[in-house]
Amino acid sequence: MNKLNNMVAVITGGAAGIGKTTSLLFAKEGAQVIIWDLNQEKAEETIQMISETGGRAHFMKVDTSDFSLVEKAVDYLINEFGKIDILVNNAGITRDASLKKMTIEQWQQVIDVNLTGVFNCTKHIADQMLKQESGRIINTSSVVGLYGNFGQTNYVAAKSGVIGMTKVWARELGRKGINVNAVAPGFIATEMTQKVPEEVLKGIESKIPLGKMGKPEDIAKAYLFLSSDDSNYVNGTVLSVDGGMVV
Ligand code: NAI
Repeated sequence: MNKLNNMVAVITGGAAGIGKTTSLLFAKEGAQVIIWDLNQEKAEETIQMISETGGRAHFMKVDTSDFSLVEKAVDYLINEFGKIDILVNNAGITRDASLKKMTIEQWQQVIDVNLTGVFNCTKHIADQMLKQESGRIINTSSVVGLYGNFGQTNYVAAKSGVIGMTKVWARELGRKGINVNAVAPGFIATEMTQKVPEEVLKGIESKIPLGKMGKPEDIAKAYLFLSSDDSNYVNGTVLSVDGGMVV
């Protein structure tokens, strides 16, 4: 309990799925949670759940793919809270299609959110962390960023890019007291994977050494580890949380 006491934590995509579970867990651990998301309704539900359990959380409607909007949101947060200790770059979308069928719009939407969004948030928040000489940045990659996947040229390009950026930032920011790591989730039961056809999911489960899909809690706990003192000497790593898919 209270591994994140009085930490200010920005969780992108914190309204739903893995992000929601992370917002609840971080608040339980004592953090002041800032949810950046597009989905106001789901964010308000999450905030309500947090406040009912005595936690502290705040919602800001921020499209992480918008560079100047993110900059303004960071300025607001610094004025309001004075610091940002943790950034979890969790927001993500899919627009799946085979290479043959993928449109430039599908390519661009996923790159804008899953790659440029991570750059935008880190660019502006790292400026503040550099002033503080402390901070934790956790980027969300994916099992498919490590080994590819049919029908996900856009998503895999972004998730592999996130691993590359993590390694660059671990080198650039490490000496300034900022740890940068990535989590590569396997197949986790959320709205994102509800879109995957049942027979495809069964096929995926049969390839997971632990024999089942993961839960949002499995990823939230990995984010917590990388945000807390338990991982003080962990920097530049990609933590696979995938039931053994990549072995
Ligand atoms: P989800 O679809 O359940 O939730 C994503 C959240 O991000 C939503 O609340 C959505 O409104 C928000 N969001 C989307 N675009 C945004 C934007 N431009 N700005 C701000 N917020 C935005 O997704 P899920 O499953 O919880 O995934 C979370 C992260 O984990 C994503 O980065 C995803 O790519 C990654 N991941 C998920 C896996 C899974 O099996 N569910 C597997 C591997 C990685």
